[in-house]
Amino acid sequence: MIDIVKLSKTFGTRTLWSDVTVTVSSGEMLALVGPSGSGKSTLLNCIGLLDKPNAGEIRHEGADITRFGRREIRRFRRDILGYLFQNYALIENATVATNLEVAVKPQRTLRGKTSVDIAEALERVGMAGQDEEKIHHLSGGEQQRVALARLMVKRPALVLADEPTGALDHANATAVIDILREMSDAGCAVVIATHDDRVRDRCDAVFAVNENSLVA
Ligand SMILES: Nc1ncnc2c1ncn2[C@@H]1O[C@H](COP(=O)(O)OP(=O)(O)OP(=O)(O)O)[C@@H](O)[C@H]1O
Ligand SMILES: [Mg+2]
Repeated sequence: MIDIVKLSKTFGTRTLWSDVTVTVSSGEMLALVGPSGSGKSTLLNCIGLLDKPNAGEIRHEGADITRFGRREIRRFRRDILGYLFQNYALIENATVATNLEVAVKPQRTLRGKTSVDIAEALERVGMAGQDEEKIHHLSGGEQQRVALARLMVKRPALVLADEPTGALDHANATAVIDILREMSDAGCAVVIATHDDRVRDRCDAVFAVNENSLVA
């Protein structure tokens, strides 16, 4: 699904990581671990085309996505990518329902199918019946769960998650890991930056960013 090949990132004279080579396949869940500041979020941002590496390639279906132009970037984000990032990337002023509706692909709006999907997704994340709440009235953990519900509605081929359990209590963290695992088992490639051993234990592979190697 995604082949990272000899990827390097520097800020000024500081090398964050170099020659990172790692693959994540469809149906596979990869954890990125390492101390705070080791560059986990930066690596996710490079895969999500929010930041640019200084050298190396990120290959998807034969193309180096780091060389994409604006139009290809937009298409990749729209058709392939799903984010679960620390700032949630929700529309603050809009309702929960509106935030989920934007993830629905046009062809799936037919035959009233989407409302079922949205209701199901909200139920799975423990937010049933909260469709009409405004995002800015929700807690951080609730917003994170709305972002997860939006991913379930979008069903992207690649999910990038940055500390998805960071703001959550034990029960909600378990629910989030279960859902990411389910999406991965359904064929999605999932990359998760995490400090949480419970997340790491549920992944198929663990890459230590600070050591530039897969962990056994
Ligand atoms: N635009 C930038 N310019 C300069 N330095 C940056 C920039 N973006 C990130 N950094 C630095 O890169 C380092 C890695 O940051 P990053 O957020 O990727 O770490 P992380 O592994 O995700 O840490 P955490 O576990 O705390 O989330 C940090 O020291 C940060 O200050
Ligand atoms: Mg981070």
